Amino acid sequence: MTGSESERYDGISMKAAVISSVGELAVVDAPEPVPGPDQVLVDIDAIGVGYVDVMARRGQYPYFPGAGSVPGLEVVGRVSAAGTNVPVGLIGQRALALPSFGGFAEKAVADASRVFPAPPSADAADVVALGVNALVAELALHRVWASAGDDVLIRGAGGGIGVLATQIAHARGAEVTVITSSAARCEHLRALGAAHVVDRTASPLPDRTYDVIVDTVAGPDLGQHLELLRPNGRYILCGGAGGAPGPESLAPLLREFHKSPTLFAFSLNSVGPDELRSSWERIVTLLAEHRLSAVIDQRFPLINAAAALQRVEDGKPFGKVVLHPN
Ligand SMILES: NC(=O)c1ccc[n+]([C@@H]2O[C@H](COP(=O)([O-])OP(=O)(O)OC[C@H]3O[C@@H](n4cnc5c(N)ncnc54)[C@H](OP(=O)(O)O)[C@@H]3O)[C@@H](O)[C@H]2O)c1
Repeated sequence: MTGSESERYDGISMKAAVISSVGELAVVDAPEPVPGPDQVLVDIDAIGVGYVDVMARRGQYPYFPGAGSVPGLEVVGRVSAAGTNVPVGLIGQRALALPSFGGFAEKAVADASRVFPAPPSADAADVVALGVNALVAELALHRVWASAGDDVLIRGAGGGIGVLATQIAHARGAEVTVITSSAARCEHLRALGAAHVVDRTASPLPDRTYDVIVDTVAGPDLGQHLELLRPNGRYILCGGAGGAPGPESLAPLLREFHKSPTLFAFSLNSVGPDELRSSWERIVTLLAEHRLSAVIDQRFPLINAAAALQRVEDGKPFGKVVLHPN
């Protein structure tokens, strides 16, 4: 608990999973957070577990406040209190909220500008399984203007972001190729809209080129994937599940400059509230039109938060790992 949090402690306690020291996560009684003037308090029904939380536990995420803090960047629940600058109409609404950590708990505070209405009929776990991953996938495809007729390649397609990028690219009318890691994942991804599938454990890279490549993996073989761009192609790097790229990875961009390739790097951290809100509206529309569905890998109770983090760290999930406080 930081100094400022203890000053705001009003005596009400809740369960929260705290990173007690690097590598250690413990579920403890913690003070209920109090919203600041521009924030809301959310009573949580479902919590998304992401790779960022794994990095926070390892002490490798620079934006995480450190030992004694609670991970968790996405929750779905009901707004139960609001700061003085927040419209009172938000109180009582069911919403997706993106706190600056603190989500692995029964309650969390988030800036009101990062709270988005949950579709009334959707299950809380489904909404949180869309959450950050759908925003990354949707905004990545939007920023590279992936459109009908484009050939789109998704790397890391079986991951949390990838299963949504596959569906959203298909919904935008693109012809989607996925790279994934098993025959079973290939079949799941076909059912979600992939026209072509590559099992990277059994097959070489595709022998065709693409208008758009969405990459959540990076890693030492990023350069080989850059070479799969066709003239005027757009490559958007939005994750590093395979580790850091090697120093030569960007060489194809220079070598192939006559093909006018474009490399985008994309992080949700740099996206303002209006762009987030517009993207969330497009996501909810796709959901309502049954052109997008949440994919949940496994659900855990908050008390087993360490096992949920381990599931993500082991790299086995197909879709989203979700925690429930109760
Ligand atoms: N840009 C942003 O704002 C933002 C936001 C959230 C997360 N991220 C980052 O995006 C990345 C992906 O997130 P996620 O939630 O989708 O992760 P995830 O659920 O763990 O999925 C990552 C996928 O990448 C593939 N993969 C992992 N290691 C690989 C390797 N060595 N070589 C090739 N493929 C590999 C696997 O897919 P297959 O089994 O299908 O091959 C895996 O399922 C992470 O680095 C995360 O930190 C970025």
